[in-house]
Amino acid sequence: MKSIIYYFTGTGNNLQVAKKIAESLPDCKLVSMGKGRHDSNEVYDYIGFVYPTYAFNLPRRVTQFISEMSLEKSKNAYFFAVTGCGGASGVALTALAKILENKGITLNFAEKISMVSNYVAMYKMNERNPEKYQIATDRIPALVQKITAKTQQPAGKVNELLNVSTSIAPKLIFPRKDKGFNVSDACTGCGTCEAVCPAANIVMKNKKPSFNHNCEQCMACVQWCPKMAINYKNKTQSRGRYTNPSISLKELIEGNNS
Ligand SMILES: Cc1cc2nc3c(=O)[nH]c(=O)nc-3n(C[C@H](O)[C@H](O)[C@H](O)COP(=O)(O)O)c2cc1C
Repeated sequence: MKSIIYYFTGTGNNLQVAKKIAESLPDCKLVSMGKGRHDSNEVYDYIGFVYPTYAFNLPRRVTQFISEMSLEKSKNAYFFAVTGCGGASGVALTALAKILENKGITLNFAEKISMVSNYVAMYKMNERNPEKYQIATDRIPALVQKITAKTQQPAGKVNELLNVSTSIAPKLIFPRKDKGFNVSDACTGCGTCEAVCPAANIVMKNKKPSFNHNCEQCMACVQWCPKMAINYKNKTQSRGRYTNPSISLKELIEGNNS
């Protein structure tokens, strides 16, 4: 028996969930949907997708990754999806079910889990994040148990209006959205931002990050910078920072390269 979980993460929440599920599945590999690849020749018994909700939908990169996957050889696998979101997942699960349905695959299980909201470009990091982190962490074992038991829990039908509107907006806005990122004199050129970016959008040039207009707005660069030297416009300087306490910088970076 073999399993695989494809995940996407900026600040580690979804890697925390993916790791916990992986620990309980037979021979389970974790692959980042950022820089990782899907091997269409492998056959799996469990195939999972774990990712954040962005703008009530899937991150663009997740849509692209899953749309391009060939799953012919694993059609009989148990397919599951989990979105570790801030609380409002919109069509993030139903839109995935639809992508799979178009490939002739049924998504057997879909569930959202409310975690710490990390979109620091939009709001300040909540003082109660440690408490919210703990509540989310306590919910993970029940979720894992449902998946290992191959529970059937469909996503339902996608709301087409919400799906179209929430998938068009990021396409129009996000590619240019890294124009708003700036780097302060506190930058030491350590390259953490380049390594944590799951979209490979950041390249160090002359010991400073340069942004290449393929940004998912995941906030990894802002949140993980050890000097708080990366900011979004003038909005994030005093909004605090958040990264998932159970995920180390090292493992997030290693995962990005898996
Ligand atoms: C660009 C962006 C958009 C987001 N949009 C939503 C949203 O529509 N609904 C929601 O519940 N959370 C939203 N969030 C919060 C994340 O889904 C949530 O914090 C998630 O757990 C982060 O996962 P990660 O730590 O794996 O990156 C958004 C975060 C970002 C960065």
